[in-house]
Amino acid sequence: MFIKDSAFSVTKGVLSLINDKLVDHGVRTAYILKSMMALQGELERETMKNILFLGIFHDVGANKTEEIANLLKFETTETIPHSVYGYLFLKYLSRLGDRAETILYHHLAYAERGGCRSAYRELALKLHLADRVDICAMGESSDRLVIETVERYGGEQFDPADVELFKAADKRFGVMRTLRGCGCEEDIRECYRALAFSEDELMDLVQTLVFAIDFRSEQTVLHTILTANYAEMLGEHAGLEKDDCRKLYYAGLLHDIGKIKVPVAILEKPGALTRGEMLEMQRHATYTRRIIEGHVDGEIVEIAARHHEKLNGFGYP
Ligand SMILES: [Fe+2]
Ligand SMILES: [Fe+2]
Ligand SMILES: [Fe+2]
Repeated sequence: MFIKDSAFSVTKGVLSLINDKLVDHGVRTAYILKSMMALQGELERETMKNILFLGIFHDVGANKTEEIANLLKFETTETIPHSVYGYLFLKYLSRLGDRAETILYHHLAYAERGGCRSAYRELALKLHLADRVDICAMGESSDRLVIETVERYGGEQFDPADVELFKAADKRFGVMRTLRGCGCEEDIRECYRALAFSEDELMDLVQTLVFAIDFRSEQTVLHTILTANYAEMLGEHAGLEKDDCRKLYYAGLLHDIGKIKVPVAILEKPGALTRGEMLEMQRHATYTRRIIEGHVDGEIVEIAARHHEKLNGFGYP
């Protein structure tokens, strides 16, 4: 139902709709974390998949708060809300539920690790270092300064062993050079290609991405989950083939994705919409088509993009 080899493009495309800066930061963080982990031995397929996912999605909870600008500073405070939202997102709306604690603790300082009993504490500390390296690299002028900063915070913010691991990864893979040269995206795209996602894995990914968009409001995420399930149930009730029912489910999942392009002021306006606002709101069906066309099965595109059309030909678009 999904176009093969599109896992990374779809991920990047959808997350960019939410926030451009955060998705680039996520991709770079995933690259740093992956490079550190690769130094400890060849990564198994599942481990690689999880690391890429955790890196790319680690700040997904920030989309529910106003703190994105704050997170992109090195000495950041107020890290708890987005860590908790990100944890909840992963735990309940993705297939990585058991690893969600990595996100909950991704700003944990090494000096305070005693208070954390999570089995994912060590991984969370590595993610913390990878995250801060990227933030530091965005602000500092030279690679040497970035490495000196990371060293200075060793023992306080970062596990000294992780600092050494990062330095060794930099020597071996040229991590800083890749960060500067914008090669991270190509590297991560290549990792995704090598993972060769199965149809089921792609479906899981698309579902997670849609939930990531809708996660900003409780109402929208519930609406999407319910619509997808109702559509599939109606299909089953009407005696459709299993494959067609799954198409209904995915069309339900994707149907309102175009709302990401409708201004929030219109989406959340409490009173009646003006004629101009109504026309803008109605464009979401066309936006849905533009976003998903070429990435998923043509029938899913038609079902999703026409969800406001009526049998008598009225409705929109
Ligand atoms: Fe964060
Ligand atoms: Fe981050
Ligand atoms: Fe709609």
